[in-house]
Amino acid sequence: MTGERIEIVRPDDWHLHLRDGAMLEAIVGFSASVFGRAIVMPNLVPPVRTPAEAEAYLARIRAALPDGHPFEPLMTAYMTDDADPDDIGAGFENGIFRAVKLYPAGATTNSAFGVTRMEAIRPVLAKMERIGMPLLVHGEVVDPAVDVFDREAVYIERVLDPMRRDFPGLRVVLEHVTTVEAVDYVRAADGGLGATITPHHLMIDRNAIFRGGIRPHMYCLPVAKRERHRLALRAAAASGDSRFFLGTDSAPHPRRDKETDCGCAGIFNAPNALQCVAQVFDEEGAFDRLEGFVSRAGAEFYGMEPNSDRIVLEKGVGSETPGEAVTVGDDTVRVFEPDTPVSWRIVSGLR
Ligand code: DOR
Ligand code: ZN
Repeated sequence: MTGERIEIVRPDDWHLHLRDGAMLEAIVGFSASVFGRAIVMPNLVPPVRTPAEAEAYLARIRAALPDGHPFEPLMTAYMTDDADPDDIGAGFENGIFRAVKLYPAGATTNSAFGVTRMEAIRPVLAKMERIGMPLLVHGEVVDPAVDVFDREAVYIERVLDPMRRDFPGLRVVLEHVTTVEAVDYVRAADGGLGATITPHHLMIDRNAIFRGGIRPHMYCLPVAKRERHRLALRAAAASGDSRFFLGTDSAPHPRRDKETDCGCAGIFNAPNALQCVAQVFDEEGAFDRLEGFVSRAGAEFYGMEPNSDRIVLEKGVGSETPGEAVTVGDDTVRVFEPDTPVSWRIVSGLR
């Protein structure tokens, strides 16, 4: 039913940062209690590059959860200039790797090991195209001459489109799209191209970063854009087009690393991601399409079945954000707080 209560297939998160060590232990439960599966980003320091490193990281994630917890982390490989096609391919074929993440070197948090020359990775892309292994792209150029708000649109033109022409069979996800240009590009593609959209890019435009002063907890990469871009993202998410699906990009950082001279990029939304997206679909009058966006379209792209259990949300009064911060060691991590109210809460299916 629409309105006050909705029951949907358990959602998945197709883009998640779980970190490691004390941070991992403090935050993994927020995602694991709601989402069936999550694509886990490999941008640790040092990054997750080989099947053996992914196996070890997966074991650490499982160890941070109660024994037998059904949450399924889906591991990814971090692309480097010297990535070995056979190693990556073997990791996909034996099931430890679900995809490869491409960070242009210098584009974002922990991307220093990323790709400096697209020519260097051609053999890996050719292998991935052959075996059907998805490439997940952080789509921003790092050219300092390009304005930070234009970096996604320029990436599509300079890098993504030429790459997709060279490897037409390569399955690609343009991660955390933030612009009209990205939405239009995905819509116009013949096939094999999907895009994740984050809860925060559906809820804030770039003014949120500056409202009343500089607000570092609204800063992420790609940075939020103008309002017209946010509206295009909402329309794409709510359209029912299965090429667009949820990737929260929940990216926790200790408060002291955000509130400083040069604060780092990342918004931690795992505790309220699904509630925020429910709010957006409610506002868009697209409640009947929520399940497609959060629980079906991503699984379809990755060739998986939707989850078999369900989750129930209810509309109440006020926000459900469980506290405004999570404690990690001697610091805290702020939870995403949209400027507009979120009245949806999860009432059953948490685990
Ligand atoms: O805001 C971001 N934070 N964007 C990214 O691409 C990386 C992420 C992180 O790992 O903190
Ligand atoms: Zn990310």
